[in-house]
Amino acid sequence: MNLEKAGFFTKAVHAGEKPCPLTGSHATPIYQTSTFVLKRNVEQPPTTEWRTAYIYTRAGNPTHTVLEEKMAILEGGEAALATASGMAAISTVIFTLLKEGDQIISSDTLYGSTYTLFKEIMPKLGVKTVFVDATNPANMKNALTNKTKMIFIETPANPTMDIVDIRAVSEIANESDAKVVVDNTFMTPYYQRPMELGADAVVYSATKYLSGHGDTLGGIVVGSRNFVMEVRRTLALTGGVTNPFNAWLIVRGLKTLALRMDKHSENAMAVAKFLSEHSKVKKVLYPGLPSHPQHELAKKQMRDFGGILAFEIKGGMKEAYTMMEKVKLCRCAVSLGDTATLIEHPATMTHRMIPQEERLQLGITDGLIRLSIGIEDSNDIIVDLDQALK
Ligand SMILES: Cc1ncc(COP(=O)(O)O)c(C=O)c1O
Repeated sequence: MNLEKAGFFTKAVHAGEKPCPLTGSHATPIYQTSTFVLKRNVEQPPTTEWRTAYIYTRAGNPTHTVLEEKMAILEGGEAALATASGMAAISTVIFTLLKEGDQIISSDTLYGSTYTLFKEIMPKLGVKTVFVDATNPANMKNALTNKTKMIFIETPANPTMDIVDIRAVSEIANESDAKVVVDNTFMTPYYQRPMELGADAVVYSATKYLSGHGDTLGGIVVGSRNFVMEVRRTLALTGGVTNPFNAWLIVRGLKTLALRMDKHSENAMAVAKFLSEHSKVKKVLYPGLPSHPQHELAKKQMRDFGGILAFEIKGGMKEAYTMMEKVKLCRCAVSLGDTATLIEHPATMTHRMIPQEERLQLGITDGLIRLSIGIEDSNDIIVDLDQALK
């Protein structure tokens, strides 16, 4: 069967996988090895005389290949690369695309570590980042110069759920030689396909929905064959590779991605509606609510609205902490995309590295609470939040 024409659920189960030709093993084997015994191949010229398809796990491993082939097909990209974490995916793309003197234009609301990487680490290498409010693509256009080599967007943005118009930004980038890279962690390829909207590459924290069970770290880069080949070379040289067991966990998680995403999304909508009517809640940020300022854009570029939402509790830090200490089912933890509902306080947890003034400007207030809605029964999540708010 031509898997490229199959539906998402079929691709998620079968892409990249086939029974082991040696043993018939149905499940993908975990090739837990650092190195591969090289075979003499007299057909090959002397320099590559002793080779197999794999040489050393830092440069590639058959379990990683299964994950990479599955992700490339799910995303509709030519190729994919597995990395040790989402941050390894992002940093390896940056090291591939940028050199001293180049500039990044980035949406201003980002996962905290991505923001700090751009703001603190990249300038040491001579790469400056211009942060713009990307909810208005004209800001991207105005910031574009001949030094811009990458436009980076995270949409929906962590934690404010701002939406960036991927097609509009990609069209702006077409006027330059900047590559558009989208962090699609919140949506996954099941709900949002940035490359179909014109982006050049997509990055993921596979730690979240792709693996889906909160038990592993991982990252993915998807793009054209040539781009991924270049990023693979950077990765082999910089060392942020995944390991066979983590790759295997992500392969397993991906098989149920669509089922989980639909449940996360259905639950998040129920919780968003509940919170938006609650007397202790000032506002709810969820793209699925008509009150979200970019609800129409979200409907256009996303197939559904996903499992993450944020809300601002009336009061501030004290009220937020009091509420978070009272939850019983929801777990107070950073990360997201887990089967369990996780609750966190961006201002003092995931986004604490952002200076207070900038954080407040971005809307990450002291009363803002982020929820990663799990796949429990929505009513149980609501009952728990309700008793904590009371
Ligand atoms: C949107 C987003 N991108 C990237 C990352 C970084 O991923 P990792 O923790 O796997 O390095 C995170 C982590 O929370 C995230 O939320």
